[in-house]
Amino acid sequence: MYKLKVITSTVRPGRKGPAIAKWITGAANNHGFEAEMIDLGELNLPLMNEPVHPALKQYEHEHTKQWSAKIEEADAFIFVTAEYNHSYPAPLKNAVEYLVHEWAYKPSGMVGYSIGPFAGVRAIMNLKADMLALKNIALAEMVNIPQLNQFMDEEGNFTADERLNNNAKIMLDQLVRWTKGMKAIKEDK
Ligand SMILES: Cc1cc2nc3c(=O)[nH]c(=O)nc-3n(C[C@H](O)[C@H](O)[C@H](O)COP(=O)(O)O)c2cc1C
Repeated sequence: MYKLKVITSTVRPGRKGPAIAKWITGAANNHGFEAEMIDLGELNLPLMNEPVHPALKQYEHEHTKQWSAKIEEADAFIFVTAEYNHSYPAPLKNAVEYLVHEWAYKPSGMVGYSIGPFAGVRAIMNLKADMLALKNIALAEMVNIPQLNQFMDEEGNFTADERLNNNAKIMLDQLVRWTKGMKAIKEDK
């Protein structure tokens, strides 16, 4: 079974990211992945504070060693990203920057959301470009959630509609395929 990490992007109190991540984590677990959700708000990484370039993997801090181990064991990722000022939020950029090799030769599905009509598409396009620099390949298939509040209830729960569930299925089908392929590339040294 492939190991999948579902990673959120926001840390502010009242953030909606974890509710959406919970939904896609459940969908992934029902799709043959061993999926684990990582809420960056709970992970609480400081701003990147390793003295040595992460490509050398000479990690000084315990939080980095734990983050490295968590990402290393993953075969694939799903990033659940909000759109902050037409891009993806700084906490996610920070979490990504801590590591290099741990992201490489692995595929990523992306779920974008926003309270406006653009559904996090601009955040995803920026995130995709940055992940490519780390040899992490984002799928063409993605899930875009516009006008987020229509899917949220008063308790902060997120409920996907038929279109979103269908888009998630399409993306997860492709993620299985790409995970298999990228694993072969990763192991072929
Ligand atoms: C700092 C900040 C910047 C934002 N920028 C955008 C934006 O560029 N486009 C957009 O549609 N919504 C924007 N929003 C609204 C977010 O889509 C909405 O608040 C969403 O719930 C943020 O995700 P979160 O709840 O996980 O923090 C912004 C919100 C914040 C707090």
